[in-house]
Amino acid sequence: MLDATSLRPEDTEAYLLQQSDKELLRFITCGSVDDGKSTLIGRLLFDSKQLFEDQLAALGQDSRRWGTTGEEMDLALLVDGLAAEREQGITIDVAYRFFASEKRKFIVADTPGHEQYTRNMVTGASTAELAVILVDARKGVLTQTRRHAFLVSLLGIRQVVLAVNKMDLVDFDRGRFEEIVSDFRQFAEGLGFESIIGIPLSALTGDNVISASDRTDWYEGPSLLEALDTARVGREQEELPFRLPVQWVNRPNLDFRGYSGTITGGRIRPGDEIVVLPSARTSKVERIVTYDGELDEAVAGQAVTLCLEDEVDISRGDVIAAADARPEVTDQFAAHLVWMSDQPLLPGRKLLLQLGPKQVSAQVTEIKHAVNVNTMEHTAAKQLELNEIAVCNVSTDQPIPFGPYKQEREGGGFILIDRISNITVGCGMIDFPLRRASNVHWQEIAVDKQARAALKSQQPAILWFTGLSGSGKSTVANALEKKLHLLGHHSYLLDGDNVRHGLNRDLGFTDVDRVENIRRVAETAKLFVDAGLITLVSFISPFRSERRMARDLVEDGEFIEVFVDTPLEICEARDPKGLYRKARAGQLANFTGIDSPYEAPEAPEMRLPGAEEEPDAMADRIIDELRRRGVI
Ligand code: ADX
Repeated sequence: MLDATSLRPEDTEAYLLQQSDKELLRFITCGSVDDGKSTLIGRLLFDSKQLFEDQLAALGQDSRRWGTTGEEMDLALLVDGLAAEREQGITIDVAYRFFASEKRKFIVADTPGHEQYTRNMVTGASTAELAVILVDARKGVLTQTRRHAFLVSLLGIRQVVLAVNKMDLVDFDRGRFEEIVSDFRQFAEGLGFESIIGIPLSALTGDNVISASDRTDWYEGPSLLEALDTARVGREQEELPFRLPVQWVNRPNLDFRGYSGTITGGRIRPGDEIVVLPSARTSKVERIVTYDGELDEAVAGQAVTLCLEDEVDISRGDVIAAADARPEVTDQFAAHLVWMSDQPLLPGRKLLLQLGPKQVSAQVTEIKHAVNVNTMEHTAAKQLELNEIAVCNVSTDQPIPFGPYKQEREGGGFILIDRISNITVGCGMIDFPLRRASNVHWQEIAVDKQARAALKSQQPAILWFTGLSGSGKSTVANALEKKLHLLGHHSYLLDGDNVRHGLNRDLGFTDVDRVENIRRVAETAKLFVDAGLITLVSFISPFRSERRMARDLVEDGEFIEVFVDTPLEICEARDPKGLYRKARAGQLANFTGIDSPYEAPEAPEMRLPGAEEEPDAMADRIIDELRRRGVI
């Protein structure tokens, strides 16, 4: 056996080439150590004879983990479906093992069964076509079995092997086996599996793992390896309508323009009519180019470059699709979401959504309900915690082409990325588009922002005051507005306490409510900017993410963040409304700076030392800054 650490990417490629005539089945195993999962995987690897002949097998035997060991080997070659998550730096704990039979090669994703289970399983299952769900013959179908089955179904895996393990401990009792399989089938009825194969086996003794056991002569089905050898692979994707998400536009010189990517569904030939989404422009395929020359036909799974008959404007993330079976295009949809971050999901917060190569800004607008994965009960939820699953409405800033996840996994599976840390925080499966906004169009308005601003002889802007309660934001903003008014400028001051009496009177001070509070006031400020006004916003606005969202709503240069930087001790000593005292006495929960966080700005346009200067002097400084910027 060679040392696994000596593995290099070239070896992987060599191995894959050597095995490339064999079909590949990716599957996932679900179960805990107690169910004998490790023993079963070990048994499969050892007994399938084909193993450990070369370096790659050494890799397979070693339970390697993404991103934790930092090995040289580029596992993405093998598990390319995970590239996006890996690039996004998600911490997962999934071991991939490789082995082969006479007929096939296999990649098995092994996810440990501890509390991070959901997140790991989702990651491991994202490309799997089959799931082996383990149960202990003595214990039968348990809550965790149901959880595994539900997640497997949610992730679009349609083929299930129910491995009833430890049959040796129940004397290979047929009745016991049949009872367990029947329990499982009954429960799984609504989960949409296409096949469920129950196998009585013993990982420890090897019965029915590789070949038929003589201790179960009553059983006529396949052994585990036979089931894996005969499971359906790949073909389903080829039968879908044609889809090519464009990874990049290939334009080496003026004579060549091609669109490259991996076909995620269907097949394509030169002459076929296609449509490009979201632009809905149509054309025909002229040529299919690959590294190995031109093709007469390409199918799902192949990486190709398409040349079209017409000049069409196509960019990365657009989808080239069969003209007669188009994907839907939407900017609002319902989806199942799995939350993968320690920080809760707060509806309304702006995130990045990545679907294939397409990245857009998005937000969860509503959590319809959370799903308890153990009981499958629906529960109400205002926010989502790590590993929670929910049905949500999602809205994107631009329309995106998609297919419902149930029909085409690659066209409907997405990840959510935090805009500040750039970490993957969730993943989702699109269920269906929401029609609610599709009949609302933009109304042309003749008088625009420039015209309104010109009449007022000013450039509209948002002065966004952020800082702790009692820092002096409102006092400075108020002093500033008086000065602007005297100078003949048109302004409006949106103050947290005041807006919370009207527009936002339904909101409290939980994180979720603060996100919504800032979303509404930011949208309002944007309208005021459009009206040509110098808009002063004075809200604690404790979260970086929402201040960033507000900044992104307006044009570059229109957002001026003013951090009124007064230390907590001073704010608390001032305590103008007696709220700090109440908070310290435990009579007021979620008070900023006491038991609710304040994330100070990292690069505000202006930082005012609220404890050191007089409000009037600070207002003068802002006036100077506005002159310097040409706002006034
Ligand atoms: S924000 O965090 O959502 O931006 P906002 O600026 O609207 O807060 O409201 C803050 C004002 O509400 C404070 O100036 C204070 O008078 C009052 N308030 C009442 N309860 C709280 C609380 N728990 N945390 C912070 N401010 C509170």
